[in-house]
Amino acid sequence: MSAFPATRLRRLRRSGALRSLVRETRLHLDDFVMPLFVGPDSKANAELPALGRFSVEDLTSEVEELANLGVKAVLLFGVPEDKDAEGSGAWADDGIVQRALRELRPRFPELVLLTDVCLCEYTDHGHCGVIRDGEIANDESLELLVRTSVSHVEAGADAVAPSDMMDGRVGAIRAGLDDAGFETTPIVAYSAKYASAFYGPFREAAESTPAFGDRRGYQMDPPNVREALRECELDLAEGADVLMVKPALPYLDVIRAVREAFDAPVAAYNVSGEYAMVKAAAARGFLDERQAALESLTAIKRAGADIVISYWTKELASWL
Ligand code: PBG
Repeated sequence: MSAFPATRLRRLRRSGALRSLVRETRLHLDDFVMPLFVGPDSKANAELPALGRFSVEDLTSEVEELANLGVKAVLLFGVPEDKDAEGSGAWADDGIVQRALRELRPRFPELVLLTDVCLCEYTDHGHCGVIRDGEIANDESLELLVRTSVSHVEAGADAVAPSDMMDGRVGAIRAGLDDAGFETTPIVAYSAKYASAFYGPFREAAESTPAFGDRRGYQMDPPNVREALRECELDLAEGADVLMVKPALPYLDVIRAVREAFDAPVAAYNVSGEYAMVKAAAARGFLDERQAALESLTAIKRAGADIVISYWTKELASWL
């Protein structure tokens, strides 16, 4: 490369049109997934609008609006009326997510309906698996996650996204879906999901804060990246179709490492705390929300994510 003055990198930054011509990363709504919460009744969230909750009826109108804006995919989370030790609301045939799916499926045949598969919103203790002798029982929890996945697909889900971080869940879910005749349904695995402080606002919205302890015994330890690659490798071997890294912004290096190590599609979850930080700073006048959000989402794509799950998806539809 010849040096200055022959080379002046500013030449291509002189106008918006020139910058656009050489832009390496672009945001497209097709790559975005909007998370949505469904519960027994609607509950708006004034400060963090995307973390509000919808009744099945209101969810249908929200999804209609999203579809009209051009949003192509949503990820459903359920907040059940009652919780129990096993989280039976997760796989109940008339569970909240199953009911929502049966409403949405026929109305929006083109929309990609993804469901989060986990027990934490449904267990009275708020952990992602069943508890035996004070410990999260991995192998016993698998059966319940399989049941949940199959019932979501029966109700109309296009793909399931297990977020529990039990060992072996992807293989168990794959086998369970295949046995039920759903061998064509993809698994979007939350492969590298960290035990993060950035899930706070989500847990408020989903009422899934653990009643005791924390999730560090099953979610990944934030300092580790090689371990994330092992998680991804195992998930792929067990039949994962998409690998996910979560959270996104504090883990851009992990997204990049996963992108470089594997050819499978990579998803990144721009989680509730990442959204809340920008919202809160914007509300106090410290940041411009739109610019900060677009820059954040672009950074996630630049790091290597193919798919981005973001609470800004709805706003993005009007920004783009
Ligand atoms: C359920 C689940 C969580 C999130 C997605 N699925 C919470 C958790 O693991 O505690 C977090 C999403 C977000 O913060 O936006 N296990």
